[in-house]
Amino acid sequence: MTAPLKLDARLHAVLSLTEAEVHADIGTDHAALPLALIQSGRCERVIAVELKGGPLALARRAVAASGLANRIEVRQGDGFGPILPGEVGSASLCGLGARTILSILERAAWLPPMLILQPNAEPEVLRGWAQAKGFHLNAETLAEGFWRYPILKFEQRDGLDPAYLNLPHAAALRFGPHLLRRRDAGLLAELERQHGRLSHLYSTGGERVQADLQTVRDALSWLQTIS
Ligand SMILES: C[S@@+](CC[C@H](N)C(=O)[O-])C[C@H]1O[C@@H](n2cnc3c(N)ncnc32)[C@H](O)[C@@H]1O
Repeated sequence: MTAPLKLDARLHAVLSLTEAEVHADIGTDHAALPLALIQSGRCERVIAVELKGGPLALARRAVAASGLANRIEVRQGDGFGPILPGEVGSASLCGLGARTILSILERAAWLPPMLILQPNAEPEVLRGWAQAKGFHLNAETLAEGFWRYPILKFEQRDGLDPAYLNLPHAAALRFGPHLLRRRDAGLLAELERQHGRLSHLYSTGGERVQADLQTVRDALSWLQTIS
């Protein structure tokens, strides 16, 4: 068996939010996350799904070399296509654009009750989808890397998601209700960065820049009310 893998901060954050008897990692590529989920004892079994031939071969080689082929099954296919209804308790989709993740979620015939999503940007797309589809945002974090990656953990629940109560809605969708409430250090740095960038663009930018700047200002104003 090979030594445990060292994950980057992004996948390490996903790992620490994941715990299930059987988990699916969709878009697995190198299969680093499935290997770490088994090696860390956070999952009993993982189904690793990959669409493309090259990454699929990479995943199969990594799993074979690890000696964990009895606990990690690599399947080729599109999104949740290779997963049977009820087969897994949770799933992760990491390192993809938010709109690609959205399209995979919307095309799924069945979704597990727990989702850990790591879009490269535009997390508001997935927070909005979850609100409309009955998934509550249980936890969220930002991982430092090439840029600040959002990691979102959703659980299927009835009723309105209490995470958004009494928050400015667009700002909470864009920046994250839990990150706002706990004054996350990465979020504060990101708000300052975006405030500077958008203020600079304000006079030449269009309506989009103005709306984005307003959302940043709403987040900063709300933070002042709790400081
Ligand atoms: C950028 S890699 C991310 C790999 C890994 N999840 C990570 O976060 O490091 C995205 C992977 O998702 C795969 N992928 C893209 N669309 C997919 C789909 N619809 N179903 C399954 N895999 C997909 C790509 O082939 C690629 O290997």
